[in-house]
Amino acid sequence: MPTRNLGPALAAALVTLALAAPAAPAAEPPVERGRYLVEVLAACGNCHTPKGPAGDLPGKHLAGGGSITEEFGTAIASNITPDRTTGIGGWRDAEIVRAIREGKSKSGRTLGPPMPFELYRQLSDTDVTAIVAYLRSVKPVRNRVAKSRYTMPLPPSWGPPVTSVPDPPQEILQYGAYLAGPIAHCVECHTPPGPGGRRDDARRLFAGGRKFTGPWGVTYSANLTTDRETGLGEWTTDQIVAGINGLRRDGSPERAPMPWPYYAGRIADRDMRALVAYLKSLPPIRSVVPPAEPPKPPEPTRRRPGR
Ligand code: HEC
Ligand code: HEC
Repeated sequence: MPTRNLGPALAAALVTLALAAPAAPAAEPPVERGRYLVEVLAACGNCHTPKGPAGDLPGKHLAGGGSITEEFGTAIASNITPDRTTGIGGWRDAEIVRAIREGKSKSGRTLGPPMPFELYRQLSDTDVTAIVAYLRSVKPVRNRVAKSRYTMPLPPSWGPPVTSVPDPPQEILQYGAYLAGPIAHCVECHTPPGPGGRRDDARRLFAGGRKFTGPWGVTYSANLTTDRETGLGEWTTDQIVAGINGLRRDGSPERAPMPWPYYAGRIADRDMRALVAYLKSLPPIRSVVPPAEPPKPPEPTRRRPGR
């Protein structure tokens, strides 16, 4: 509705209203919504942009090739830029949606972990379509990546085909659960693995302690439940917001792979409020998380005899 014909006071009131009640996802242009999801909350680049010692490799945004070694073997993140020969430029929209929500490649092969397909199954049609629209808009990067080498058998599928997922409820706690689950997969990283590597044990959800080994050394995800001693029970809202934005309570920066560089200062107020409210609603679980270990110093180079 054009506001220029309205009285200035009414126009101002409408603007205030618009600010007070941020648009629900569907109202945003899909590419913008997709950019926000991919580059901020979902942090797809945390896996899909290859990293060097100084962070993201220049010119390789979302171009894949980084390796992730865990109990399942070595996964190589795919090139998800629209390059036609080495990325997903030649894929149809429905094929990209299927890869994200069902973990099936263009050929129909099951994609392997650690991409959180079980959570991405619950991405709403609006959001997954927005993600695809944004991926189509990024700069194509020619980068052929190696094949993942899984040492565990992959399931024939991650579940039945996903036909249609409605927009998430707007009630703050349910919306927060959607953000902390399907969108940002906080729960995936912040829940310790149960038997067989599964992370769906309700008695351990968000209790932290998942181990991450990489160039950063060894880190363990934090306990995000409301336990007063081992979780966030004593944290103020401001401290939780700062924590999501990358600051530990002692003021030092959080270590990888917590995707705070994606979040810092960029999460919409409404989403931050929902995330914090949701975390504050979690039942307390006592779980002491081991301290992080710094990276091992490089092996001293041995001198060859005779030199
Ligand atoms: C935790 C790491 C991780 C995250 C987070 C992640 N991915 Fe992936 N993704 C992978 C890996 C690894 C593969 C390759 C799996 C394989 O080789 O079987 C992959 C494969 C894909 C594929 C299939 C491409 C192909 O060529 O087969 C698409 C599309 C994709 N990811 C999109 C996304 C999007 C969009 C997001 C964010 C919403 C995302 N991924 C988040 C790790 C991740
Ligand atoms: C890729 C895995 C990963 C994802 C995704 C992730 N985190 Fe984390 N998070 C970590 C790790 C690892 C740490 C511990 C970092 C450290 O040791 O400095 C951490 C630390 C934190 C802390 C700091 C707690 C403290 O004690 O200092 C908060 C708060 C937090 N995460 C909240 C979240 C929220 C909310 C989300 C989702 C929006 C999220 N995290 C997504 C891995 C992850």
